[in-house]
Amino acid sequence: MTSGGESLKQELEALQKEAKHAFTQALDLAALDQLRVKYLGKKGSLTEVLKGVGKLYPEERPVVGRNVNEVKDDLEGYLEICRNVLKDEQGLLRVEAERIDVTLPGRSQMPGVRHPVQAGLDEMSEIFMHMGFEVAEGPEIEDEFHNFDALNIPPEHPARAMHDTFFIEGGDDMLLRTHTSPVQIRAMLDGEPPLAIVAPGRVFRCDYDVTHSPMFHQVEVFKVGRGVSMAHLKGVLHHFLNAYFGRDLPIRLRPSYFPFTEPSAEVDMGCAICDGKGCRVCKGSGWVEVLGSGMIHPNVLKAVNIDSEVYSGFAFGLGVERLVMLKHGIPDLRLFFENDVRFLRRVGR
Ligand code: PHE
Repeated sequence: MTSGGESLKQELEALQKEAKHAFTQALDLAALDQLRVKYLGKKGSLTEVLKGVGKLYPEERPVVGRNVNEVKDDLEGYLEICRNVLKDEQGLLRVEAERIDVTLPGRSQMPGVRHPVQAGLDEMSEIFMHMGFEVAEGPEIEDEFHNFDALNIPPEHPARAMHDTFFIEGGDDMLLRTHTSPVQIRAMLDGEPPLAIVAPGRVFRCDYDVTHSPMFHQVEVFKVGRGVSMAHLKGVLHHFLNAYFGRDLPIRLRPSYFPFTEPSAEVDMGCAICDGKGCRVCKGSGWVEVLGSGMIHPNVLKAVNIDSEVYSGFAFGLGVERLVMLKHGIPDLRLFFENDVRFLRRVGR
């Protein structure tokens, strides 16, 4: 016959095994704590076993009692290990859940570029600044004095006709400037020679077709001082066109007429599209007209109180869109104003 002590011991061993197995199966700390209560709590399985100890023979009690305590210590230690494992596991799970995937490609930014015309204006202004010209700007809403009278354009001149100029209703002689030349007048009234100015800006004419837009851009360049001659004009032009197009293109001056220059010259440049061989853009001639120029008319100097016996000056005004088109081989002026981003990104900078 097995003693009561022996069967209790077996019961204890079974309990120990069962509890350990249960502890390892717990999925989280809360479940583990429930198992602690079940096996080690005041009303738990081990307490039940302990109750049986009292019913044993007195000589058996200390041995079994010690056994119970050993099992209790062992289970508590094991519980602690399981608790730590679960804590680590949960920490890892949290880290995993909160992990940032640094390999994910970033959201791509679409940084803007300057509009091709603005990029052209800036590039051209910079070339002149390198040659010592100073940037000046004038208002887009001008009066007849600066836009016409002071530039030796008499009232009957065709440039003043309604079909060319946007006059401002009730504006008392106010208009949208038809060219950047009024900046010459403003700069010469403001300062004393020697003056070397580059004036980029927007101009307006009542015109609209494949090669004309009612708003376009010009860069006005002029120099006033002692002994300024046509040779300076040609040198500056040549240097500018070479710098802008990045190669040595020939230029030629053709006699022309502007009320505010005398003599006046239309400037042609070897066609940048076909390198002078002849193409659609240059209409087979190998030359394209790029700007108007001349020596500032004595009447203009007089209008701004500069003595034309002492000083002389050259001036020219170029069409920005035209030069940008030639440089980049753009076939249609209207592309500048349609704002198709594919075009803007290709030509803008
Ligand atoms: N202002 C003239 C135009 O718009 C260009 C020009 C400027 C011609 C300076 C001569 C001198 O057509």
